[in-house]
Amino acid sequence: MESNCRPIGIFDSGAGGLTVLLELLKILPNERYIYFADTANCPYGSKPAQTITELSEKITNFLLRQQCKMVVVACNTATAAAIDKLRASYRVPFIGMEPAIKPASQNTKTKSIGVLATAGTFKGRLYIETSRKYATDVNVCYQVGEGLVELVEGGMANSPDAESLLRKYIVPMMDCNIDHLVLGCTHYPFLRPLIEKIVTADVTIVDPAPAVALQTKRVAEQNGLTCHEKNNTKQVQVDFYSSGNTYVLRSLVENYINPCIQVYATYHDDVSL
Ligand code: DGL
Repeated sequence: MESNCRPIGIFDSGAGGLTVLLELLKILPNERYIYFADTANCPYGSKPAQTITELSEKITNFLLRQQCKMVVVACNTATAAAIDKLRASYRVPFIGMEPAIKPASQNTKTKSIGVLATAGTFKGRLYIETSRKYATDVNVCYQVGEGLVELVEGGMANSPDAESLLRKYIVPMMDCNIDHLVLGCTHYPFLRPLIEKIVTADVTIVDPAPAVALQTKRVAEQNGLTCHEKNNTKQVQVDFYSSGNTYVLRSLVENYINPCIQVYATYHDDVSL
């Protein structure tokens, strides 16, 4: 195997990173992927940054032992807490989640945008710096999405409980006259059908996943890490590892990823780091 055909590693606190994996599969179908869900430690959102950094380092070590050539941190909270330390400590390239405040702030007409994310993401350097830089003349209505990750991980992304929690968080943003709503957590695109029911048609929902996938492609090219071996199988090979069970991962792969891109999936439960 060419050394640039080693897998791309991707991790999240749980199943949220699948929303990024799907975008990667669309634009880099010749690659192999190793996805790590830290299900046993999910959610990350309310954990101290130091704990999240230590977990991210352990996951990175695991991915590097599987020969990953680069790592996508498909978690806004882990990006906020750990990406600087990861980049300083390892030689492989890391791609993190971008808080999509920049495009929302540049395109808003009402000069009011909403951001839904975890507490950890709002505390991170990236969020604070991006808001200072791009949202100076924009009213940012931010909201911690307490409880939403747990609902997605519990297989309840489409439940009445999820809808009522989302209403509680989004209706006040609508009262602030937002015309863009940034999904600042990779679990939230699973809630998109409900979010679309709540916001009016003039609100643009901003999901940073496609931009992060494009950035991954660019970084792979710049570092000579693109795999050029043709994948003739029509299926992309993905190994899924979880520190807990892979029950929700399997169901989301079936219902969210496979209808768009067929993956040849292998699942590994209860992986200890
Ligand atoms: N998907 C993670 C993120 O993007 C969820 C964080 C959590 O586990 O609370 O922030």
